[in-house]
Amino acid sequence: MESCGTALSCMPAAFLLLHLGLISSMAHQNEFQTGITGGEVTLNCTGIPPDSQLSRDTVVSWKYSDTLLWRMEKNNRYWKKPTFITGRADIKMQYKLCLWNLKLSDAGIYTCEYGTHKVHTSLHIFKLTISLDGHFLQNEVPELILIQNSPSPLPDLSIILFDSNNKRITPKIKNKSRQKYIMDLKKLETMDSGTWVCQVHSDSPLINQNISFAVNVLGFQNPDLERKYATVDSTVILSWHLNSQNIKLKEGFTGQLNWKQQESAKSHKLLDFSVTAQGQLHETEKSNTFLFEIPERKPEGTIEVKLPKVHFNHSGQYQCQLEYQGRHTQSKIELVVMKVSANPAGPLSRGANMTLTCQVSGHLPPNAYLRWERVNGTEMDIKNSKLREVKLEVNISAAGLWSCHLTEDSDKKISFHYHVEEASVWINYVIIGASVGGSLLAFALGCLCIISGISWQRRRQRAKRMAQARQYLLENKTCQCQHRLKK
Ligand SMILES: *[C@@H]1O[C@H](CO)[C@@H](O)[C@H](O)[C@H]1NC(C)=O
Ligand SMILES: *[C@@H]1O[C@H](CO)[C@@H](O)[C@H](O)[C@H]1NC(C)=O
Ligand SMILES: *[C@@H]1O[C@H](CO)[C@@H](O)[C@H](O)[C@H]1NC(C)=O
Ligand SMILES: *[C@@H]1O[C@H](CO)[C@@H](O)[C@H](O)[C@H]1NC(C)=O
Ligand SMILES: *[C@@H]1O[C@H](CO)[C@@H](O)[C@H](O)[C@H]1NC(C)=O
Ligand SMILES: *[C@@H]1O[C@H](CO)[C@@H](O)[C@H](O)[C@H]1NC(C)=O
Ligand SMILES: *[C@@H]1O[C@H](CO)[C@@H](O)[C@H](O)[C@H]1NC(C)=O
Repeated sequence: MESCGTALSCMPAAFLLLHLGLISSMAHQNEFQTGITGGEVTLNCTGIPPDSQLSRDTVVSWKYSDTLLWRMEKNNRYWKKPTFITGRADIKMQYKLCLWNLKLSDAGIYTCEYGTHKVHTSLHIFKLTISLDGHFLQNEVPELILIQNSPSPLPDLSIILFDSNNKRITPKIKNKSRQKYIMDLKKLETMDSGTWVCQVHSDSPLINQNISFAVNVLGFQNPDLERKYATVDSTVILSWHLNSQNIKLKEGFTGQLNWKQQESAKSHKLLDFSVTAQGQLHETEKSNTFLFEIPERKPEGTIEVKLPKVHFNHSGQYQCQLEYQGRHTQSKIELVVMKVSANPAGPLSRGANMTLTCQVSGHLPPNAYLRWERVNGTEMDIKNSKLREVKLEVNISAAGLWSCHLTEDSDKKISFHYHVEEASVWINYVIIGASVGGSLLAFALGCLCIISGISWQRRRQRAKRMAQARQYLLENKTCQCQHRLKK
């Protein structure tokens, strides 16, 4: 289609003459053209010779149905100023009628007359409207209404949509008459933001019209529900990414972040956020019962909280909610915290048993289970929980590095490594030698000292005490240890 702005484009004379020769014999010509409300059309006065070849007394006119719009007589040009197109029409080179800011009611037969020639153009108008002015939250389903108006019987249309990624979408037609088609698009995701195309087709009259429209979807780039795993006392950062930069919807939305430990539990508000006039997110802390921080530096359009030393009981659902014009959408992060304990605590003595307990808080998906295993251990050192069990105990008699894994299908989500120390063994040989009358008597006394209940942090202290113990043994030349060991 020719733009109303390019009025002075010149056509090569040779082509024009050829064109003229072909159609000059026809007194009547029927053309067909389509337009979109709000858009523009240029209607040709097809076949009219250039001004230089028109005789001075040729009358040229444009009519809408029987209404005279414009007329040229003896080089005098004048508009009849029909109100319906006032300020929306112009005559361009080659007596083309240009109409803009089209309305549904502009549909009709436009006739250009010059001499005995008549060129009828049937103008068919489409109007496409999208619900909520094209501004949606994720998961909403837009409604699209296509209306057509024509001077001739309305054709049966087939409608195909192409989303912003140029993927074909078949709309669900909810209600349809020849004039009006009401369709549901699809549940929107944030990546659906952009320019969509509605492709309208009919065989008779032949119509292939593309109508583009904008879809803005505000929402989270996170999935609706995400699981995040952490070991107790570690630092956890929970983030929600909004797509607010990518869309033409800078202001007007607010939101909040809530936490609850269980589905049925009371919800605690952690923070509120809103958008400043500059399009920046602004957060206000709300909770005083909960230890968290709002990181200062974070990517634009991100809601973030930091739990510096996560407690086992801080697991649960963190729900970020967006509100826009009274409508809501949300995205949840389920925080699962893992902890490990040993009973009895402390190093493991040879021959003794210890119970290791691994526990996760929060809900597990149906395909998740816990596993205990000893690093570099045997098959015997592996124990799995039942599916969805949140606690797994294992009785161990071997020291070493024990790991508890949370596995979903075959994917290890989190592991807690627990070092079981072997109760330290100190062997001291004190030779109390004596030679009596040539017969050499020597006996060795082996001495095993077991010092239990010493934590890693007290190692140096222990080493010091051991040195003291050795000194004591050497000085007293006796052994006062708990166990004897034969050489
Ligand atoms: C109008 O005429 C010009 C040439 O005069 C042609 O290029 C153009 O395709 C025509 N437009 C329509 C809609 O027929
Ligand atoms: C379809 O639209 C017509 C007129 O707009 C209305 O009378 C009719 O109830 C609608 N049908 C459905 C199924 O919505
Ligand atoms: C209409 O849009 C579709 C999809 O973008 C494109 O494939 C097709 O060529 C367009 N047709 C016209 C007539 O512009
Ligand atoms: C969580 O547990 C810790 C101790 O482990 C306690 O100090 C804290 O108050 C508890 N917090 C909540 C929200 O229950
Ligand atoms: C240690 O546990 C094993 C099996 O778990 C059991 O057979 C054994 O009797 C236990 N020993 C002690 C000292 O509890
Ligand atoms: C397990 O075995 C590997 C290879 O023999 C060794 O490098 C690693 O230190 C062992 N780990 C533990 C915890 O014993
Ligand atoms: C571990 O041992 C304790 C006591 O020795 C016993 O009560 C418990 O049932 C055992 N647990 C497992 C999982 O074997």
